[in-house]
Amino acid sequence: MQPLWTFSELSAVFGVAPEGGTDQPVTGISIDTRTLQAGDLFVALKDQRDGHDFVSPAFKAGAAAALVSEGYVRRAEDGALFRVSDTLKALEALGRAARDRLSPDARVIAVTGSAGKTGTKEMLRACLSHLGVTHASEKSYNNHWGVPLTLARMPRETRFGVFEIGMNHAGEIRPLTKMVRPHAAIITTVEAVHLEHFPSVEAIADAKGEIFEGLLPGGTAIIKFDNPHAARLKAIAERLGAKAVTFGFSAGADVCGDDLVLDHDGSTLSVRLGDRRIPLRIAMPGRHIAENALAVAAAIDAIGADIETALSVLAGLQPPGGRGARSVLRLDGGEALLIDESYNANPASMRAALATLASLPRQRFPRRIAVLGDMLELGADAPGLHAGLKDAVEDAGIDVIFACGPHMKGLYDALPKSKRGGYAQTSSLLQPAVLSELRGGDAVMVKASNGTRLGAVVEALKSKYGN
Ligand SMILES: Nc1ncnc2c1ncn2[C@@H]1O[C@H](COP(=O)(O)OP(=O)(O)OP(=O)(O)O)[C@@H](O)[C@H]1O
Ligand SMILES: [Mg+2]
Repeated sequence: MQPLWTFSELSAVFGVAPEGGTDQPVTGISIDTRTLQAGDLFVALKDQRDGHDFVSPAFKAGAAAALVSEGYVRRAEDGALFRVSDTLKALEALGRAARDRLSPDARVIAVTGSAGKTGTKEMLRACLSHLGVTHASEKSYNNHWGVPLTLARMPRETRFGVFEIGMNHAGEIRPLTKMVRPHAAIITTVEAVHLEHFPSVEAIADAKGEIFEGLLPGGTAIIKFDNPHAARLKAIAERLGAKAVTFGFSAGADVCGDDLVLDHDGSTLSVRLGDRRIPLRIAMPGRHIAENALAVAAAIDAIGADIETALSVLAGLQPPGGRGARSVLRLDGGEALLIDESYNANPASMRAALATLASLPRQRFPRRIAVLGDMLELGADAPGLHAGLKDAVEDAGIDVIFACGPHMKGLYDALPKSKRGGYAQTSSLLQPAVLSELRGGDAVMVKASNGTRLGAVVEALKSKYGN
């Protein structure tokens, strides 16, 4: 296999010759010395900290070269330096070069949406890896540096590329999708999140719709059918000359899920695509996950890949940590089920997770416990959006609720006393009450934005009651 980049390719992209060091193959790209691998090109970005402070440690850790600003002062331990006027712009150029060198047979998919980007991207990664060399974003690397970094890391022999693209403001997705140049672009859903920077949910839909501006000619725009903004997104796609394909559980959807059966460890459905019907088993529970899988099916179909083989992988794919991962806890009186949703939360995903908890069989899990923490970045609507979950908690038949954070207090106080298990401002103050409440036969779901730190409660439960 050829290296990710050679020095001469890097020189051509950056427009400068390397200074010092020895010519060697570059096998990866790093922006963080804590995860740097020997052979990486270290890119000194200015974000929360200035990456230039870490150039020498990067060489000590085995970096092959570093991309630095012109003014950087070389230190004794430094190796080959590529000096440029703007390291982020140079990283973007490297990303574009990686995209340009892909074979004409390669296919690229971009994913955005108010919830479910990472989950959908990971399903696509798993499905497409089964068919050929697949490269996908790490974690949620979906912003102004995450997207070019993911592109720059893309091996030349990549057959399928999958990119998560995110945003907090209008205008952020446009330049990123134009770097990615996808054959198919998915908008998982449009919901009232990140309202801080938008006048309306329509404005959010328009900002997500920017993803279609990067589609290659003849590309496919993949849109959720059962969403109030579907027609708006379809109009954007059609104005751009893209082919619009909808997915969902309603009869009018182009890629349509039928006969959905949800069970405690997954779902079964059939996917209708034109006159084809594909049976599908998904090992991750939840209607919303099955709906995302329909978007995955639409994208795989749009790029002309073998859809049945690709989708068969979903029967064995487990949810990642913090996003629905399940574990069994052993208590004196029997076993309890722990559902870890501590990584991410917004009103849409809270409702989806509560509905998934509600789909567990009562005979097997007689008591449903929800440990809910603050959803962050909701702006002025935060109090209403938290208190507004009352219906969802009631509909899901939650027996005991624990709440964490100032916003969740609103929901907690609105619930009947008989259901209130405990409230605390912080995760560490809430933890003891949750640990002592748990009994055999409970199903406990922990969900909040990552910043609320309910992951610590999950860890405490696992270390006290895990295997
Ligand atoms: N279609 C959906 N509708 C509602 N909730 C969803 C949907 N898909 C996934 N979720 C839930 O949303 C949460 C976040 O999922 P995920 O991490 O995939 O989202 P994301 O869009 O990548 O988030 P981020 O913006 O933080 O990168 C999870 O709890 C997941 O179960
Ligand atoms: Mg994500």
